[in-house]
Amino acid sequence: MIENADAAPPYNVQAIRADFPVLQQECHPGVPLIYLDNAATSQKPLQVIQTLDEYYRCYNANVHRGIHKLSEEATVAYEEARSKVRKFINAASKREIIFTRGTTESINLVAQTWGRANLKPGDVVLSTVMEHHSNIVPWQMLAAEKGFSIRYVPLCDDGTLDLDALTRMLNEGNVRLVTLMHVSNVLGTINPVAAVAQQAHAAGALVLVDGAQSVPHMTIDVQALGADFYAFSGHKMVGPTGIGVLYGRRDLLEAMPPWMGGGDMIARVRLEGSTWNELPYKFEAGTPAIAEAIGLGSAVDYLMHLGMERIHAYERQLTEYALERLSEVPDLKVYGPSAAHKGAVASFTFANIHPHDLAQVLDVEGIAIRAGHHCAMPLHDYLGVGATARASFYLYNTLEEIDALIEALYKARTVFTVR
Ligand code: ALA
Repeated sequence: MIENADAAPPYNVQAIRADFPVLQQECHPGVPLIYLDNAATSQKPLQVIQTLDEYYRCYNANVHRGIHKLSEEATVAYEEARSKVRKFINAASKREIIFTRGTTESINLVAQTWGRANLKPGDVVLSTVMEHHSNIVPWQMLAAEKGFSIRYVPLCDDGTLDLDALTRMLNEGNVRLVTLMHVSNVLGTINPVAAVAQQAHAAGALVLVDGAQSVPHMTIDVQALGADFYAFSGHKMVGPTGIGVLYGRRDLLEAMPPWMGGGDMIARVRLEGSTWNELPYKFEAGTPAIAEAIGLGSAVDYLMHLGMERIHAYERQLTEYALERLSEVPDLKVYGPSAAHKGAVASFTFANIHPHDLAQVLDVEGIAIRAGHHCAMPLHDYLGVGATARASFYLYNTLEEIDALIEALYKARTVFTVR
């Protein structure tokens, strides 16, 4: 008996699905789309699409520059979006919310400003082997220049972070930054960020959190977590592409030099030199992604209206059900912890079928999954597997879609069975 299969969803999923035009289509003639690639990007509700449409139709103008009506309207909407994001993650001030292009840019911003100004030979940046490339490569690039070292916390057999190893590595000293993902995009592991932050701070280190896979799915309170920096993307949380957020503690952001130079980030420019604008504009050089930021505000409205607790509870039902059903499939191995410690992700290998082949056969059935290393090559090396197939769920997926995935897996096995 699958425990949660009969539990009522905490909201009307069919009504929610009606908000998402993409989900209404057939993937191939007569084959409905089953979208299970949400960790890569989420679909967008009409409310967000209409917000973008309205911006371009009615008040497209640059922000912070004009004194004409349209520019003022655009500026108000852009800054309102910042306030919505502040509230959504419970930052203390909207000055702590910097709009970027996404999680990757947010992490690069910290590396190139705080990291470049503060890290030196002998220092250690402590990361984990489960990180996405976007939280490995920026530190490697800077380390090659600055001469600090990067160390990686290993995992336990169940795919959770080895917290004893983390404690040992922190106690070895010289750790200036602990940088880790909140939820793994492959294993689904939910890392105990608040506990890690407490330990890191006691050891004199700051904490940067990659929240790309957490902010869309659960309530985030950056203050309660004790995060010094928290990075996330709009497109994974029903918002537009090209917009993301760096939350930073105000005192840290104040002390950091700017990264990109240009318009809006300055207070005064003279040919002899320049001074910087106040937060958050110091870090937002050039014309920002105005429509996208306003669209992100609309995505926040959408998620808050539905309620992050309810979204998280529903995704827990979906994940438990998916893991149960996947466990029934012979020769299928799911990576990562049990549903209780996991986000809405199931990465797996299946019966010697290459994940790319599997993804192609599932696509014929209208099922979109991701296959490959999911921008986490070191994790796949660590797991000793070249690639995995990944089904990832979001607030609009259904138990029936998971049933269809299981059925398609059996079909795929037939396709690849040599007769
Ligand atoms: N980082 C995204 C993923 O894991 C693209 O699919």
